[in-house]
Amino acid sequence: MSAKRVAVIVGSLRKESLSRKIALNVIEQAKGRLDCRLVEIGALPLYNDDLEAAEPQAWQRFRSEVAAADAVLFVTPEYNRSIPGVLKNAVDVGSRPSGKSVFKGKPAGVISQTPYRLGAFGANHALRQTFVFLDMPVLQQPEVYIGGAGELMDSAGKFTSTDTVKLINSFLNAFVAWIDKSGQKEAGPDFSDFMQRREQIARAYVNGDAAPLEAVVTHEDPATFLPPGGEPEQGAEEVARAYVKGAKQFGPGSESRLQVIHSEAGRLAFWSGVQIATVKTPGSDTAEPVKVRITEVFRLEEGDWKLVHRHADIPAAAPAPARSRVTPDAAAKTESRPSH
Ligand SMILES: Cc1cc2nc3c(=O)[nH]c(=O)nc-3n(C[C@H](O)[C@H](O)[C@H](O)COP(=O)(O)O)c2cc1C
Repeated sequence: MSAKRVAVIVGSLRKESLSRKIALNVIEQAKGRLDCRLVEIGALPLYNDDLEAAEPQAWQRFRSEVAAADAVLFVTPEYNRSIPGVLKNAVDVGSRPSGKSVFKGKPAGVISQTPYRLGAFGANHALRQTFVFLDMPVLQQPEVYIGGAGELMDSAGKFTSTDTVKLINSFLNAFVAWIDKSGQKEAGPDFSDFMQRREQIARAYVNGDAAPLEAVVTHEDPATFLPPGGEPEQGAEEVARAYVKGAKQFGPGSESRLQVIHSEAGRLAFWSGVQIATVKTPGSDTAEPVKVRITEVFRLEEGDWKLVHRHADIPAAAPAPARSRVTPDAAAKTESRPSH
């Protein structure tokens, strides 16, 4: 299994920041166990709801980098017994727009530090307070408050304190286990087990029994169904009804087999809908109307959505595409293939 990806957020912008040096030590120590990547927060405009209308690029980058991670590790100094404003701003930016927080459900870890003997506790716990509303399950033990941080590293910023290395090591072991445990809750049942059930559902369906399919069909909007050769259905209840109706055209004695070319469960997003276009062939003055039904599945890679599957076909109700007709994209021409 590949190492889980962790967004590391440092609560200080100083070039010589002790927090950043500690974060770099932690990232180095985590190699092979976690794929830790620094996510910068210094360029984030101060949170202002008015800016959401044209999302600043720095917000967009930050949000997608955090969204692409399996977990978030905060390494922060303490400012006035709380967290630095720059860190709070990053938390606020990631938490909005309402309902689209990139932090939601992500396992979190906190390391706080102070160059003094007393400190770091306030920042650590002020940050933990935000996790309640952010809905982030945070690792409880071991707690990591690093005191006298300036004396624990050499001039190159490497830990010289074996006690600190040991503490970070046990923190990382616990954090890896915590991410795995929290991830299992998120992931739901094993998808290959589910696909075996899906095979049985498909077999029942072609034998006229829609009940097993009904049991796995969503009853929450949004939902869509592009039936073969028919008009799109939308809305959870409409879609569920269409499935039940569809099974009635089949009777006992039918056979079915699902030939899965590509399947995945994880950080996926999809859209399903209709492309309505008018297209011209080169040199022609007349535009032809074309309607293409599309389902596309995307995977989060390196902080951005990458297309991993596309299905496109032309509804039977639309005029059949002549051999020479140009469709808005090549995939539409290959409608009889199982996958594009
Ligand atoms: C505005 C401000 C408030 C601070 N308040 C605290 C504090 O409450 N507790 C503490 O231990 N240190 C406090 N410090 C000192 C920081 O811990 C120290 O500057 C530390 O090195 C900052 O972390 P960094 O090296 O990662 O930038 C404060 C520093 C600043 C600039």
